[in-house]
Amino acid sequence: MLHTVDHPMIAEELTRLRDPACPSPEFRQRVRRIASLMVPTVTANFETSVVPCNTPLEITSGVKLTRGIILVPILRAGLGFLDGFLDLIPQASVAHIGLARNETTLEAESYYLKHPPVLDDKEVIILDPMLATGGSAIEAVSRLRGAGANRIRFACLVAAPEGVSSLETAFPELAIYTACVDRCLNSSGYILPGLGDAGDRLFGTCA
Ligand code: PRP
Ligand code: URA
Repeated sequence: MLHTVDHPMIAEELTRLRDPACPSPEFRQRVRRIASLMVPTVTANFETSVVPCNTPLEITSGVKLTRGIILVPILRAGLGFLDGFLDLIPQASVAHIGLARNETTLEAESYYLKHPPVLDDKEVIILDPMLATGGSAIEAVSRLRGAGANRIRFACLVAAPEGVSSLETAFPELAIYTACVDRCLNSSGYILPGLGDAGDRLFGTCA
């Protein structure tokens, strides 16, 4: 199911991000802020357990998150999305998955995966600013499921309708969170209007 995180502060940040004149340091800061602004929505239905809670005056009851959280940035651009999540969820573990889109076939090629040994009792949030064809997201969900994760959600900044549709078809139960659904993909698999190449803009590797 798709959730669009509709918030005026996110919309303004995104507008500034789209500008090709936005330099890498500013781009990184804005992606980080959008990620933080998305956290409450992405985690809103996490299960909690009741725990005893001492105050200076008496004992009451409080809550704690029932499960640990694992954040999984898809390398490389997902790293830009990670810090904003860690700012609000510092207790999360971080797993990494390395995927590179073959720019000719647009297939996601996997080159790295490192995660905590036990995933089946954790809330797993896959992070990638861009959901374009959906190939990278589908590969990430498949690899993490294969490794034992069974509570997975996917968070991105900009999604193409084509990618949302492919991901929903592959995993009908998956919760997908995005700040914006853009118009379509171009013939090279880039999102329109989009942001351009998010990894290059985050890390200053533009031509
Ligand atoms: C980009 C982006 C996603 C992927 C989306 O990464 O960060 O991971 O493309 O495209 P898809 O939905 O069509 O798979 P890229 O492969 O360019 O690698 P990078 O992050 O290292 O730049
Ligand atoms: N990857 C990006 O970084 N941008 C796009 O528009 C599509 C894939």
